[in-house]
Amino acid sequence: MSNTETLAPDRAGIARAAALLGQGGLVGFPTETVYGLGVDARDDDAVARLFAAKGRPAFNPLIVHLPDMAHVAAYARIPPEAARLAAAFWPGALTLVLPLRDDAGLSPLVTAGLSTVGLRVPDAPVAQALLRAFGGPVAAPSANPSGQVSPTTAAHVLDGLAGRIDALVDGGPCGVGVESTIVGFDPAPVLLRAGGLPAEAIEACLGRPLGRAGDAITAPGQLASHYAPRGRVRLNVTDPQLGEVVLGFGPVPCDLNLSPAGDLTQAAARLFDCLHRLNAMAAERIAVTPIPDHGLGRAINDRLARAAAPRG
Ligand code: TXA
Ligand code: MG
Repeated sequence: MSNTETLAPDRAGIARAAALLGQGGLVGFPTETVYGLGVDARDDDAVARLFAAKGRPAFNPLIVHLPDMAHVAAYARIPPEAARLAAAFWPGALTLVLPLRDDAGLSPLVTAGLSTVGLRVPDAPVAQALLRAFGGPVAAPSANPSGQVSPTTAAHVLDGLAGRIDALVDGGPCGVGVESTIVGFDPAPVLLRAGGLPAEAIEACLGRPLGRAGDAITAPGQLASHYAPRGRVRLNVTDPQLGEVVLGFGPVPCDLNLSPAGDLTQAAARLFDCLHRLNAMAAERIAVTPIPDHGLGRAINDRLARAAAPRG
């Protein structure tokens, strides 16, 4: 394909996007976390084209997006603690990895052959409108080439995937800015990926700490080197070296600041845009000043640690 249609987030745009999904198309759309690249999760050919467009390793499963909790039972069994989290935090920046039903009807490529499925009910109005207009399960990874920085604006999506996807609904910048928090059940609840919903809020809801992903159960997509900007990244830097471009947090001297006021919510919303800007600046060496490791800071530090990981 050579042309990517850009659609407005209005009735006509949503209707066109839903029609393209129904024809097996690849459609970018905004969620409150990051832009997703959606396909019909029941359509093997469409899912295969999605993996090809992203250059994504096929062993890495996709999150299935649904408009509300009522749709979940068709795809997964729901342990009591999962139901509690869903009631508290959906729609929102939470993905639950749940036991897959035998009759779910999802493409095995979506679950990468696992016996579990990652499900999310997003909150963003454009995502909600698209899911309702389409009426089926939408598998959607972040709308970036595999291994690159996730997109939080339509321009980021086009930078990476223009000409490789059918359409993109431009709904403006994403509010949260980092991907959803992923929780699995081992059967005890386990944090598989820190994200836009702080782990502390989940633990408060459950009344017990989340387990940490060990070797046995991990989100397969959590490859060490990920979210990579093109430059080399150093973290927790208090003494930047000559020639380093400094990404700051709080009132520190720097070239780009995630949040001059030291606000973690603002820093999460700006994180991926700053990484895209560092690429645009052709920054070769990047120093990041310390960021507190609580609340959304955990997701930010997780993404930055992957950005700093040695490249394979
Ligand atoms: O905020 C988000 O979660 C965004 C928006 C578009 O919803 N999506 C997103 O998708 O970040 P993606 O594909 O970039 O990351 C999905 C992660 C991967 O690390 C994958 O391995 C994990 O979810 N995952 C999906 N299904 C899983 C499963 N059954 N078991 C373990 N991990 C799973
Ligand atoms: Mg991703």
